[in-house]
Amino acid sequence: MPQANDLLNHIDTAHLVKMDEVLDQLDTLGFAHIKPDFYYSTDDSESFSNIETLQDTYSSLSRDSDPGNRHRAYASFQWSPLNNELIKKDSTDYFQAKEYNYIDGGKIRTFDPICPRYLKNSLLKSVVEKDIDLAKETGIIDFSSSVEIGLHQIRYVANGTEPAFSSPLWLHRDDEPLVFVHLFSLSENAIGGDNLIAKDVKTITHLIRLQKPLETLVLTKKPYHAVTPLGSSHGAAFRDILLVTFMNKKSSL
Ligand SMILES: [Fe+2]
Repeated sequence: MPQANDLLNHIDTAHLVKMDEVLDQLDTLGFAHIKPDFYYSTDDSESFSNIETLQDTYSSLSRDSDPGNRHRAYASFQWSPLNNELIKKDSTDYFQAKEYNYIDGGKIRTFDPICPRYLKNSLLKSVVEKDIDLAKETGIIDFSSSVEIGLHQIRYVANGTEPAFSSPLWLHRDDEPLVFVHLFSLSENAIGGDNLIAKDVKTITHLIRLQKPLETLVLTKKPYHAVTPLGSSHGAAFRDILLVTFMNKKSSL
C-alpha cells in the first residue's frame, strides 16, 4: 500500500491540453506531459497528412557517427528581439558543455541540416510557434534578449538485440533550460525508449512513455531526466522524435 506521503508527493501527469495547465505543471514539477491535441486537432485530415509527411522524412536521416544507433539532422535559429522573428543559422555545428554531457560534451559535433520538406511543413511550423508561445509564458527564457532555438530531428534504431540509446545515457540535466521532446513515431516492436523524471539521482519519480504522434514532454532544469535505451522485440524497431531547445545567448543581433 502506498503511504499518504507518497501519494502527496506523486502528482499524476494526466495529459495536458491547455496552456495554463501546462504552465501549472511546469511550475510545480519542472516538467509537463502534453497531449497531442495541444498541437493539432485530431479530427483534422490535413494535420494527419502533414504528420505522415513529417514521419516519412525520418527514414532518410544519416547515421550519427557517435555511439547510440541514432540517425539525425539539426537546424538552429536565432530569435531576433528587435524584429520578433526567427533567423535560421547556416551552421549545423552543435556544442554541449562537458558539465551537461559527460559522454559527448566538450566537443563540436556537426550534423546534417534538416531537410526543407520537414522544416517548411505547415504543421511543423505551427508546432515550433506553439513551443515559442509556451516558452515565452514560462518566464524561463528571456525573449527581450537573444534566444537560440535548436531543432534536433532524431531516429533511434534498435536492431534485434542491439539497442539504440541517448547521450548522456543516464540521469542528467540539459545544457538548455527548456527542452520540448515531441514524439513522431514509435514502432510497435519497440521495447523501452521511456522517459524518466527524477527529483535527484537516487529517486525516479515518473516514467512516461510517449506513444502518439506529437505527444510531448517539456523539460526544465528542475528535475533530472533520462530516456531508457530502445530495444526491439523482433526485427528493427525505431523511435522518431523532434527536440526543440531554448537557450538565451549572450550575444545579441
Ligand atoms: Fe537530456
